[in-house]
Amino acid sequence: MKNHIIINKKIHSFNDEIYVSGDKSISIRCVLLASQSIGTSKIHNLLESEDVINSLKSIKKLGIKYEKKKNYYLIKGFGLNGFKTDKKISLNAGNSGTFARLILGLLVNAVKEVRIIGDKSLSSRDFSRVTEPLKKFGAILSSNKKKLPVKIIGTNFLRPINYEEKLGSAQCKSAVILAGIKTPGITKIKAKKSRDHTELFLKNLGFPIKIKKNKNFDFIEVNGSNNFGGFNYNVPGDISSSAFFLVLTLLAKKSKLKIKNVNVNKSRAGIIKILNMMNANILLKKKRLYKGETIADIQVKSTSNLKSIKCPKNLNSSAIDEFLLIFLVAAKSNGISSFKNLGELNKKESPRLDIAVNFLRKIGITVIRNKDDIKIYGNSNLELNGEFIIENFKKDHRVFMMSCVAALTLGGKWKIKDKDSINSSFPKFLKKIKKLGAKIN
Ligand code: S3P
Repeated sequence: MKNHIIINKKIHSFNDEIYVSGDKSISIRCVLLASQSIGTSKIHNLLESEDVINSLKSIKKLGIKYEKKKNYYLIKGFGLNGFKTDKKISLNAGNSGTFARLILGLLVNAVKEVRIIGDKSLSSRDFSRVTEPLKKFGAILSSNKKKLPVKIIGTNFLRPINYEEKLGSAQCKSAVILAGIKTPGITKIKAKKSRDHTELFLKNLGFPIKIKKNKNFDFIEVNGSNNFGGFNYNVPGDISSSAFFLVLTLLAKKSKLKIKNVNVNKSRAGIIKILNMMNANILLKKKRLYKGETIADIQVKSTSNLKSIKCPKNLNSSAIDEFLLIFLVAAKSNGISSFKNLGELNKKESPRLDIAVNFLRKIGITVIRNKDDIKIYGNSNLELNGEFIIENFKKDHRVFMMSCVAALTLGGKWKIKDKDSINSSFPKFLKKIKKLGAKIN
């Protein structure tokens, strides 16, 4: 079956309201925390994408029961010591760095060896960033030159650690928090700012966790070895999936869109701040709190006079998954935009900084790169009419979807390969974008 799409028409103006699928970060945390609770959790709007399905299949291998009902999932956990690890097993994380890294935190008390494997992209990513701190709890971890497969054997004699997270990685911070919930005593973490879903989730479950925040760091104390009960959770829409629609609307002509019920947690929604600094007029309506997370309806309209940005470094982590899109907006803006300290982008599902620079140059934009910093020479009149083939992006779902947005708003004839990449985070992407009027073959 063909696994590419062709786009050779810009999208016509639209005025609509949509929902996007459930938040991937929160869906994975729901699965993992439900697996540690005592009792049954009921989860509505769980994202049904490969990353989450691989998480469900993996906890099942660890002895956890789950069941899909008509519009929710039931997951039955047996507490912090409830994983069945009395014989060697292998878990396949597929494409998901979040699942692979967070589950390691929950395996620090595994009785026998658990092996984590993944797809080609995940197998090229660094795992020492989590294996090193997790060793300090007393678990035994080994890897293939810092990469997958990673093997872990846990211990009954866990000891709490003091850990400084310096990369701004929520996956590293969360792996340590999750090991901390199993460990008697107080695990102390000083973490460079990153998404705070794990901490908020545990706090909302009534778990003894303290969170203090200052401008650059979060200080977290986890008082481990306290069991908690099953929970209900209604997963909000994903800001990272919404971002493709925000930028599509912004760059399309005379269009308007409302994206309903999206998680706009400050540690996640940096793209809204950044686009508004570039002259977009994105509004948050019906802001409300749900279990510590901030939810809103997002309203966006096309903007023809976008301007460049000197992007403040302190917004990097809250927009970390959205930079491909932000660079695209910079390309279509007036003036020279600059972005700094984006080395972490090259540690994602594909080397996104390298890929973005090549992509922008391919569409005729001047980019100056200095290691992890880039300058983008924007052109607000940018219109394309050549032919573009997008391939060799390690099946990175976000590169595929960003390329679709570029094709639908800039013109030209595009062939975009590896359509099935969207299954890892947003299987309904093409269906939803076609509903807005996009012509995609
Ligand atoms: C995630 C954290 C981020 C992000 C990823 C999801 C999470 O990764 O890029 O898509 O759910 O914790 P890092 O922790 O590597 O920054």
